[in-house]
Amino acid sequence: MQYSQKVLDHFMKPHNIGKLENPDVEATEGSPACGDQISIFLKINPDSLIIEDIKFQSYGCASNIATGSIITDLAKGKTLEEAKKISWKGAADALDGLPAVKMHCSVLAVDTLKKAIKEYEVKHGLSQRETFSKKQIVEELKKIIYPGVGEDIVTLKVVKYVGFEDGIATIDVDIPKFDKYRENVVEEIKEHLEHYNEIKEVKVTI
Ligand code: FES
Repeated sequence: MQYSQKVLDHFMKPHNIGKLENPDVEATEGSPACGDQISIFLKINPDSLIIEDIKFQSYGCASNIATGSIITDLAKGKTLEEAKKISWKGAADALDGLPAVKMHCSVLAVDTLKKAIKEYEVKHGLSQRETFSKKQIVEELKKIIYPGVGEDIVTLKVVKYVGFEDGIATIDVDIPKFDKYRENVVEEIKEHLEHYNEIKEVKVTI
């Protein structure tokens, strides 16, 4: 697999690696695509809402370690509002690109950072947990990367329909029979959605 020099540098000597003692918030996420995990720890100034310190621990691949390293660099010294704008594409760009099949590693790292920020905001009354709706299903589907292209399945219009009624999520996808990633994508949709307590059943039609 072809990695950029920057990915290799961050993988070999990751920045901000480890655990913070007494963090204000921490979050851990696992990737349904590969089973890997990443944890992010934050120290936040309660007045300025600036991220004063940030560390991560990765139980993932080289791309996951490199994206953990780059996003913690990008987030350090930023306000929560600024840090929320860090995207998985931005992280991949900051690493001079990632192979298409490794884009989900960047999604995992950025998603964990966003989860930690949200936890902090909810804990401090800065925002509220959203009530579950179709919108959250679509947001979750945007975290699924079609490995052949390195883009998410919503942007690629692989997802044709999303429905949510009586606890049943119905997802229609359009992937040709001969596509080698067809089964993977369907599996991932189920794994991403099944961990929501609000969803009793996931129906994927292809
Ligand atoms: Fe699992 Fe990269 S995070 S393959």
